[in-house]
Amino acid sequence: MIKKVSQDKLIDSKKLPQHLAIIMDGNGRWAKERGLPRSAGHMEGVKAVKRVISNCISLNIPILTIFAFSTENWKRPKNEVLYLLKLFNKALNKEKENFIKNNIRINFLGRIKDLPNSLIKQMNEIAKITSNNNKLILNIAINYGGRAEIVDAINSIISTVYEKKIKIGDITENTIRDNLYTHGLPDPDLLIRTAGEMRISNFMIWQIAYTEFWVTPVYWPDFDKINLIEAIRDFQKRVRKFGRKV
Ligand code: FPP
Repeated sequence: MIKKVSQDKLIDSKKLPQHLAIIMDGNGRWAKERGLPRSAGHMEGVKAVKRVISNCISLNIPILTIFAFSTENWKRPKNEVLYLLKLFNKALNKEKENFIKNNIRINFLGRIKDLPNSLIKQMNEIAKITSNNNKLILNIAINYGGRAEIVDAINSIISTVYEKKIKIGDITENTIRDNLYTHGLPDPDLLIRTAGEMRISNFMIWQIAYTEFWVTPVYWPDFDKINLIEAIRDFQKRVRKFGRKV
């Protein structure tokens, strides 16, 4: 308890990221280093997700977005893909009550319609029963790709043009923003990537135009509160200019 209080004091509660996004990477390497199957790394990754959710709540970070499965992840071996989809279903089912109890609202970002029906059913139910919660908004990106998101936005804007609700010349950056999966949410202030890779991997490519980026060599299953605080402390030292001269 003493340790917890002293850790939290290391960050300025008035300069918290209002939207934190995370590229969770390194589950496979975590498992390999231990001579375990990749599935063991993913299972441990779920525990790290639970940990980061409770840390965001205790630090008062209001929006968290996590990259669980990309539109490119279908290229992984079939057994790994099936394992991951089953794991999401199981984890969501297990955590349902906790989401309600802890006042967490769950949104899913991605091409949901291409996922297995049983998972879609679970996701729709969770999104619905948590829709009025307001302590933490947790966006789970599943079958998500930043380029696919922009394509989907363009298609939906074109439909509104055909319906004569908007004219071609009137399309602005805000029109695109409002047609992304994240419509209504502010852009991430801080993006964390674990496992050392300096890549965006097609994650929120529209929304991260001015997001601060922080990379750690720590594998996702090992990511803990100390790492999160380290990222936030670094973020709090950054001068955010948004293209201005300061
Ligand atoms: C990252 O490691 C793995 C993923 C992003 C896929 C699955 C994520 C989890 C199991 C976390 C739990 C998520 C939810 C929504 C409950 P990798 O396989 O890319 O690792 P590697 O690069 O070391 O091989």
